Amino acid sequence: MGQILLNGIVKSYGKEVVVKNLDLTVETGEFLTILGPSGCGKTTTLRMIAGLEEPDQGMIKLDDKVVFSRNDGVVVPPEARHLGLIFQSYALWPHMTVAKNITLALKEQKISKSEIAQRLENALDMVQLTGYAERYPSELSGGQQQRVAVARLIALRPSILLMDEPLSNLDAKLRTEMRASLKRLHRDLGATTVYVTHDQIEALTLSDRIIIMNEGQIMQEGSPYDIYHHPANIFVAEFIGDPGINLFKGTISNGMLDCGAISISLPTTIANRGGNLIAGIRPEKIKVSETAKNGWQEVTTGILQPTGANTILEVKAEDIPITLLQTGFITLSEDTPLWIDFETDALSFFDTETQENLRNEVS
Ligand SMILES: Nc1ncnc2c1ncn2[C@@H]1O[C@H](COP(=O)(O)OP(=O)(O)OP(=O)(O)O)[C@@H](O)[C@H]1O
Ligand SMILES: [Mg+2]
Repeated sequence: MGQILLNGIVKSYGKEVVVKNLDLTVETGEFLTILGPSGCGKTTTLRMIAGLEEPDQGMIKLDDKVVFSRNDGVVVPPEARHLGLIFQSYALWPHMTVAKNITLALKEQKISKSEIAQRLENALDMVQLTGYAERYPSELSGGQQQRVAVARLIALRPSILLMDEPLSNLDAKLRTEMRASLKRLHRDLGATTVYVTHDQIEALTLSDRIIIMNEGQIMQEGSPYDIYHHPANIFVAEFIGDPGINLFKGTISNGMLDCGAISISLPTTIANRGGNLIAGIRPEKIKVSETAKNGWQEVTTGILQPTGANTILEVKAEDIPITLLQTGFITLSEDTPLWIDFETDALSFFDTETQENLRNEVS
């Protein structure tokens, strides 16, 4: 129960094709996140799964049942798809209390009164709104209203959950807590979940699998670990990671990538290509020393941003800016010399034309 299948989905608004031939399978119980920049087609995709939007072409199956097929003329309406939904606008009924909003759908399902009461209590507890049952939505903050929408899903226990930026109205601390709640919820309910966000932290922390979308197309799909460590192309490499990945353009010569002030040693398979390429390394994969070390690159310190547990350092090798991420609260004055070294295994190499990761080709 709970498999989702999208086949050849195309959707346009006017002349703009916003979803371009999308194929996607979400396995039963999987937590899949669609991640991408604003306007890339995430909400449109979710709305098509929910039945709130009709694709121009393609087929959608839920639990082996065709709910949409352009060719066969099948269109199952949203209410008959039996999904749990939370969208960017998390509409609550304004004239109903929190309790009524949460339990309405349960009453329609003819679930016993005692079971409903128990699910309500449990759902409110999970979103930390115990004691708010008799309030009206207008008496709640935006974040609290959003949590009521989450509680409604918790109480409903559907086999498929579709969520569109359900945490966007929460403050940072509550968002971290709610992320943990959603993860627990997914573990406990085992519902197949499609989660839409442009927040990479949510995607990395919650998902079994991430789909990176750009301009209506899938750029990469993989586990959070793979997406972070083995980005398929420069778009994904730059989209994931905060502070962002360092990219250096250079020319291959004598087994090294010559980028001007810095040069990077290359694996033989990559060096044999010749020509130009772009090397990428994440800020935390660069080792730092306050004393000179043989073979390490000298840099000068610029702006430091201690965030508490970590410090982001902007440094320069002559005119090449490099971002470093070090653990701890670092205080150094500007222009202090430092020496850095790249962790060789953590380097990615990209084709300058196609922007594709070259390691994916050789491995
Ligand atoms: N009803 C509509 N009519 C016309 N264009 C639309 C409509 N809905 C969405 N679009 C366009 O389709 C594209 C994809 O929109 P969508 O809402 O799917 O983006 P998104 O990835 O969810 O972005 P965000 O992160 O900002 O929510 C956008 O360019 C948007 O302007
Ligand atoms: Mg959206």
